[in-house]
Amino acid sequence: MKKILINFAHPARARSHINNALRAAVEDLEGITINDLYFRYPDFLIDVQREQALCEEHDILIFQHPFYWYSTPAILKEWFDLVLQHDWAFGHKGKALEGKIALQALTGGGDDSTYQPDGYNEFTIGELTSPFQATAKLCKMAWLPPFTVLGIHRGLPEGQVTTHAEDYRRALISLRDGTLNLGQVAGMPYLNSDLNSVIRRDG
Ligand SMILES: Cc1cc2nc3c(=O)[nH]c(=O)nc-3n(C[C@H](O)[C@H](O)[C@H](O)COP(=O)(O)O)c2cc1C
Repeated sequence: MKKILINFAHPARARSHINNALRAAVEDLEGITINDLYFRYPDFLIDVQREQALCEEHDILIFQHPFYWYSTPAILKEWFDLVLQHDWAFGHKGKALEGKIALQALTGGGDDSTYQPDGYNEFTIGELTSPFQATAKLCKMAWLPPFTVLGIHRGLPEGQVTTHAEDYRRALISLRDGTLNLGQVAGMPYLNSDLNSVIRRDG
């Protein structure tokens, strides 16, 4: 069983609906650690040694956050800037993250049709999250397309929120237990584009 670290970043958890729902769906799972960055570092003073040790103790690193200005909430940028040190995460001697899996779990107000070349936002989620993909590659990690919940501005019916939360739980269990077809997922826009087809039957 692989160990999963969720670096959770929401600056206003009291007002969060979707990220709270996703988080609540996986919090009790064995092998999963939730590291709430805004809760732990309200002053942004990130304990680099603690964060690096957490990364080293886990096999899969998930960065869960709302999509803010086509990117992440600020503390995640700070986390990347400070924690991914030369000769630890990258560079000739930087092998601490080698072979681990990196995944973004993001929620966005715009729906999928707005994240198309001819859509309102013009760029795809894949294009907008490419710095994360490039970072994972530089750190010798295996990158997976993001788990996404989109179209929140439209007002997701509660049933759909529950379905997304259940899918998040299924996705994390299959990642943890090695029953997700990683090769097949890599060719999809989102990890949850078609979850049923990428989770093996024994998972
Ligand atoms: C500061 C800010 C910036 C945002 N930027 C985007 C954006 O670039 N694209 C998008 O689709 N939604 C954007 N949104 C909408 C949030 O992504 C959405 O409200 C959030 O994912 C809902 O999740 P929650 O219920 O956990 O807060 C933004 C919201 C805020 C507050």
